[in-house]
Amino acid sequence: MQKSLDTYRKSYGKSELLEENISFFPLPLFTTWFEEAEAHPDVGEVNAMTLATCGIEGFPKNRIVLLKSFGVNGFSFYTNYDSEKANDIAENPRVCLSFFWPALERQVIIKGIAMKTSEEDSITYFASRPRGSQLGAWASNQSTILGSREELEHQLKEIEERFQNKEVEKPPHWGGYLVTPRSFEFWQGRENRLHDRIIYEFLEKDTWERNRLAP
Ligand SMILES: Cc1cc2nc3c(=O)[nH]c(=O)nc-3n(C[C@H](O)[C@H](O)[C@H](O)COP(=O)(O)O)c2cc1C
Repeated sequence: MQKSLDTYRKSYGKSELLEENISFFPLPLFTTWFEEAEAHPDVGEVNAMTLATCGIEGFPKNRIVLLKSFGVNGFSFYTNYDSEKANDIAENPRVCLSFFWPALERQVIIKGIAMKTSEEDSITYFASRPRGSQLGAWASNQSTILGSREELEHQLKEIEERFQNKEVEKPPHWGGYLVTPRSFEFWQGRENRLHDRIIYEFLEKDTWERNRLAP
């Protein structure tokens, strides 16, 4: 049995994306869109983004991670350096980040190169996390097979005992990645599927080429 979804039809018309209103650099537009998403009451988890990697097996894989900073230095997120995504990045640092903010009928797709952040940066960010998340980072060997839920909870108990009355230090296998963008694609939904798509591609230091793509 195949469930048909062909009655799902949404038309878009909240906004437009026109060259005369935007910069020749992508970051100002990303910043504006991010801030508009932050301010919108119907956007939840504005910094949740899809991270796509493609590792040794050649299969792309997407998963959600949280964007923790963005700016001229790049886009950062934090994770386990032994996870599937980290193994993929070690093989192939080309990644794709994407955001979908349905309340604004907007999508942003960023291709870039991922690099581990410095140990110092990871330590600083780890220290800012709630204690429960810090303990969780020790307790979970992310992306490995668990025998049961109990096994995970047992690991957490052991970690809680180990760090009882102590500060939780950053696990060596945990840290950040910084993605240096190579292209930004901005998508604004429009009527009759004639959406606006603007792509910025990095050429060289401070130089980006901007083009409109057919929807
Ligand atoms: C809203 C949301 C936020 C998440 N944030 C992170 C994150 O910042 N870092 C992370 O490692 N995993 C995060 N996860 C879990 C990942 O999606 C994923 O399950 C995990 O990183 C393991 O992925 P991997 O096995 O492909 O490496 C988040 C999941 C969701 C749904």
